[in-house]
Amino acid sequence: MKYVQFLILPGFLLSWLLSVFLKPNPETITRPSRLGIVVLSPAQENLLKIRCYVCHTEKPGEVPENQMKAPPMWGVRMHYIRRYPDKTVFVQRIKEWVKHPEKSKSLMPGAIKRFGLMPALPYPDEELTRIAEAIYHLPKPSLMQRHRCGGGRCGRGK
Ligand code: HEC
Repeated sequence: MKYVQFLILPGFLLSWLLSVFLKPNPETITRPSRLGIVVLSPAQENLLKIRCYVCHTEKPGEVPENQMKAPPMWGVRMHYIRRYPDKTVFVQRIKEWVKHPEKSKSLMPGAIKRFGLMPALPYPDEELTRIAEAIYHLPKPSLMQRHRCGGGRCGRGK
């Protein structure tokens, strides 16, 4: 017990030093635009949740494989952004898909085979624009989660 007092002070100093040096710079968090990160507004996140995350999840690995009803939105985004890198076209294509899903227009035929064709969802145009923009700006999942997209686990089927 005698030694405890000798440990407390250096321990305290050490944790103080660590907290000073390891604390993230608040500037980088509160000014995301400088880093080029777009933060979704709560309203946009809510729309995605209410309208799309009934069936989709945002990231891979959020629910067990056998409970997935649709491919994770990050996987969907990957397919669409690869084909339609321009934001305006991306938004337009997502909106078109949601209003009139058709096998011939699909970029994810493997997902149709696995989950069945997505039903058409007649949501207001303005809402769908915000939803599609939110998908375009979805935050990148962690490396582990992206890794899970391998082997067709994001709904590509094969
Ligand atoms: C009733 C369940 C359900 C809901 C709700 C739903 N989806 Fe889907 N979605 C699916 C399924 C199943 C697939 C995979 C099969 C397919 O591609 O049709 C899919 C696939 C997609 C695809 C890929 C289409 C392709 O094959 O190229 C897009 C884009 C998409 N969903 C967008 C949305 C958006 C945006 C919303 C919200 C407005 C939404 N989904 C809501 C079930 C759903």
